[in-house]
Amino acid sequence: MKKLFTLFFLSILILHPLKLTSAACHPDDESGLLAFKSGITHDPSGMLSLWKSGTDCCTWAGITCLFDNRVTAISLGGQPDKPNSFLAGTISPSLVKVQNLDGIYLQNLRNITGKFPDLLFGLPKLQFIYIENNKLSGQIPSNIGKLTQLGALSFAGNQFTGPIPSSISELTNLTQLKLGNNFLTGTIPVGISKLKSLTFLSLQHNQLSGSIPDFFSSFTNLRILELSHNKFSGKIPVSISSLAPKLAYLELGHNSLSGQIPDFLGSFTSLDTLDLSWNKFTGKVPKTFGNLTKIFNLDLSHNSFIDPFPTMNVKGIESLDLSYNQFHLKQIPSWVTSSPIIFSLKLAKCGIKLNLSEWKPKQTYFYDYIDLSENEISGSPVWLLNKTEYLVGFWASRNKLKFDMGSLKIVNTLKDLDLSRNLIYGKIPKTVSGLKSLNVSYNHLCGQIPETKFPATAFVGNDCLCGSPLPPCKI
Ligand SMILES: *[C@@H]1O[C@H](CO)[C@@H](O)[C@H](O)[C@H]1NC(C)=O
Ligand SMILES: *[C@@H]1O[C@H](CO)[C@@H](O)[C@H](O)[C@H]1NC(C)=O
Ligand SMILES: *[C@@H]1O[C@H](CO)[C@@H](O)[C@H](O)[C@H]1NC(C)=O
Ligand SMILES: *[C@@H]1O[C@H](CO)[C@@H](O)[C@H](O)[C@H]1NC(C)=O
Ligand SMILES: *[C@@H]1O[C@H](CO)[C@@H](O)[C@H](O)[C@H]1NC(C)=O
Ligand SMILES: *[C@@H]1O[C@H](CO)[C@@H](O)[C@H](O)[C@H]1NC(C)=O
Repeated sequence: MKKLFTLFFLSILILHPLKLTSAACHPDDESGLLAFKSGITHDPSGMLSLWKSGTDCCTWAGITCLFDNRVTAISLGGQPDKPNSFLAGTISPSLVKVQNLDGIYLQNLRNITGKFPDLLFGLPKLQFIYIENNKLSGQIPSNIGKLTQLGALSFAGNQFTGPIPSSISELTNLTQLKLGNNFLTGTIPVGISKLKSLTFLSLQHNQLSGSIPDFFSSFTNLRILELSHNKFSGKIPVSISSLAPKLAYLELGHNSLSGQIPDFLGSFTSLDTLDLSWNKFTGKVPKTFGNLTKIFNLDLSHNSFIDPFPTMNVKGIESLDLSYNQFHLKQIPSWVTSSPIIFSLKLAKCGIKLNLSEWKPKQTYFYDYIDLSENEISGSPVWLLNKTEYLVGFWASRNKLKFDMGSLKIVNTLKDLDLSRNLIYGKIPKTVSGLKSLNVSYNHLCGQIPETKFPATAFVGNDCLCGSPLPPCKI
């Protein structure tokens, strides 16, 4: 019986092939997508080369079909590391013909220009908008609140200006709101507190101002809060405490925030990343920071924090920046030295008195950046740099380092090396020619400078360096 049924079904398939292929792409979908393609003026990597009239649009690159072969999603993405991987042009208003779209993902296409695409208002099933890293400009329309069915809205990385419309508070089904990397101005609309399902709120890299609203008690699911690189002032609002313990990313760096770090920040036991850098924070870092056992990225640099820095209870730290505060740490903290994996350590002007030859961290292999400038560090970095493979930047100016520069290993990846104002002797190795920036001024170096592109200020103040860009060597 089953077999018979299968045969019957197969015969239908065989007898009606035309009907099936014609049903593969709805004519409205095809014409909507071809209109989109005709709005694109440059497609150097051929992202849309399969999009041809008369072929099944469900097979086109970037197109998803569901339910009766209607197109439900368009997802095109450029690869940031490939210069040809972009699309130039505008988003055709006729894309509205693709009525069953529930997702539009146009990411990293870089050269898509034009105003806010009003066609979005004509797509009743649309739930997910990720139009990121393009060049859309103008204002976000004040009636954006009409898109109530949206679950995610991202216009991150465009050139939108003007305010965040207050009607955004009507998008109560949003779990993600990402408007970072635009030129938005004004304050954060208080109505955003109505978006109770948000897990991801990102407004960083804009020109937003005013204080951060004290409205966080309504967000029970927020994991990621990114407000860095704006012009926010005032204190960290008290209601942020209600985001504990779920919040994993808290990024408030590069603003004009002031006051002290509240004690409750120690209760964010899931916190992975905390960035408070480049603000006007004062006072002590609370002892409760010892409870941040999951923190991997901590940046408190460029504030006015004072001693003592609390003991952290972490298994490892991937990136730490405490530079340019009023700390006198004396030593590199033991939880840094014992970290099983660490990429970036920046402790400039942290009052560290140390013989670098005797500092033997558990892991050095993965270091990208080390900044120990403006401390009282003696000894030599030769052992340390010999144990790195991927180092990109090493800064140690204004210390008391004393070693033979000729024995310094300069890995291929190294771009920036600043050893100015130390007690370094010997000759400059030829390997410095691969660097992007070098500064060895004010040391005790001697001999001919290898051929480089660096200015004289990178070499001045040594005992007997000679040759271009300094005066020629005497033969
Ligand atoms: C793409 O954008 C870049 C940067 O704005 C510009 O230099 C380039 O000419 C654009 N290319 C096209 C084909 O629009
Ligand atoms: C919001 O989401 C819920 C659950 O997914 C759904 O039932 C509701 O219809 C959505 N609201 C709107 C306005 O789309
Ligand atoms: C955090 O640390 C403080 C003192 O270091 C301690 O009293 C407190 O119980 C810890 N736990 C939480 C959740 O804050
Ligand atoms: C630093 O330590 C090394 C190795 O232990 C030692 O040889 C050197 O004299 C020390 N330098 C100073 C300035 O203490
Ligand atoms: C650097 O490391 C290599 C191998 O790990 C070792 O043979 C060499 O002696 C080291 N050089 C210095 C200057 O420590
Ligand atoms: C090198 O450092 C010195 C002093 O630390 C500074 O005055 C000079 O401008 C620097 N030069 C370069 C090329 O960075």
